[in-house]
This record gives sequence, structure tokens and C-alpha cells, in this order.
Amino acid sequence: MDTAMTQRKVVTIDGPAGAGKSTVARQLAHRLGWSFLDTGAMYRVVTLVALEAEADLENDHVLVEITDTIQPRFVDGHVFVGDRDVSAEIREPRVTRAARYAAGNPGVRERLVHWQRAAAEFHDLVTEGRDQGTIVFPDALVKFFLEASDEERAMRRFRELIAKGHDIEYEEILADQRRRDQEDRTRAIAPMLPAEDARFIDSTGKSLEEVLDEMTRVIHPLLTSITGE
Ligand code: C5P
Repeated sequence: MDTAMTQRKVVTIDGPAGAGKSTVARQLAHRLGWSFLDTGAMYRVVTLVALEAEADLENDHVLVEITDTIQPRFVDGHVFVGDRDVSAEIREPRVTRAARYAAGNPGVRERLVHWQRAAAEFHDLVTEGRDQGTIVFPDALVKFFLEASDEERAMRRFRELIAKGHDIEYEEILADQRRRDQEDRTRAIAPMLPAEDARFIDSTGKSLEEVLDEMTRVIHPLLTSITGE
């Protein structure tokens, strides 16, 4: 892969579920005037379409076929399949639980990695996921690994789901999250890992502004040195 030739400036944010990656990445992109990519949404959209088609999620070939037929669009934080806005559905717990099939499928990953790199061909990008710094954008300008304590991550997810009207227990979310973390860390393909040159940020007890300021303090001097901005 020749990332250096075509790629614009990229900042990657990897880390476990619920560490605040999406919010932080979206706001950081806004501060920088760059585009934002939520790569988890891509695995979720494949999963949602497969669930709705009652497809066999363990059949690698079927999931790849689904990935090849859908052409989701990611517009202003919303995800569309055709004309349908699926932004809410892809966040449902049933999709969260089943996303591991798409995430562990090499053919699906290959295609989604292609979508992700294509997004950086024309726009400077803040992208978040699990493998953005390690596999998708190894030449990124800055790589962050965003963490928070298990309990704080589970509590954030709990509050989000309760606000959306879900009837769910905090303990269930914490247990689910630990299982997903373990699956993410140990899966055979593209496990969740910090890149060797990643900068760790722990968001436990920090406000969004504090995390953004910490990131901006790293990024700005680098931008100045390469572009004179
Ligand atoms: O981050 P989010 O919870 O939306 O991710 C949804 C699913 O997609 C998770 O199972 C996660 O492991 C997977 N994923 C991935 N690689 C990425 C982003 C998400 O495997 N780059």
C-alpha cells in the first residue's frame, strides 16, 4: 500500500468502546476543520443489514456479499443506507453485540479498510476505531490511544442508553463491555492495539474540553512544522 502518495493529513484515535472516541474525534475534526470518520459505524451498518436480512452471521461469504451490495453514506454524523437514515438503529444493543462477526471477518475488513483509506484521499481526516493507527493509517501524522476506566466507560454507555429509553442494567453493560474488550484485544485479525508510536490519553475524570486541549497541544506544533499553518 502506498499511503504516503495519496494520503492527506490524518489523526487516528483508537481505543476501547466507550472511551469517548466518537465525541472527541468529531469535535477535534471540527476544531481542525477536517473531516471525521467513525469506522465502528461501518462495521455496525454491515451488521444491521445482515441482522435485518436474517443472514447467517457466521458465514463469512454472506457478510462479504452484503458489504459489497450496500453503499452506505456518512453525512454529518448520520449514516444512510439508500435513503434510509439508520444512525439510531446501528447503535442498538443487538447490533453492538453482533458486530463482532463483521469485525472478525477478513473479507469485510478488507473492504472497510478500503473505504476508510478512500476517505483520506481528498480530505484531511480525524478517524476513530480500533486499528486506525496500526493497520489503516500507519503513516498518520498523530496517533492517539484513548482510554478510560472500565467503570466510567460503562457508566457513560448506561446513561446514553437510559436516555434513549432502553431498559438495561449497569452491571449488564459492564459485563458486556468487558467481553467486547476481550474480543477486540484477542481477535485474530486487526486486534485492538495501540500503535508503537501512539500517545496514550486517559479520559477518566476529564472533560471533553480537557481531552481536546491535550490533543491539540500535540497536533498544533506538528502542523506548524509541516505546513507552517
Ligand atoms: O466503536 P464501535 O463500538 O462503534 O465499534 C463497533 C464494532 O466494530 C466493535 O465490535 C468493534 O470491535 C468493531 N470495530 C473494529 N474496527 C474498527 C472499528 C470498530 O473492529 N476500526
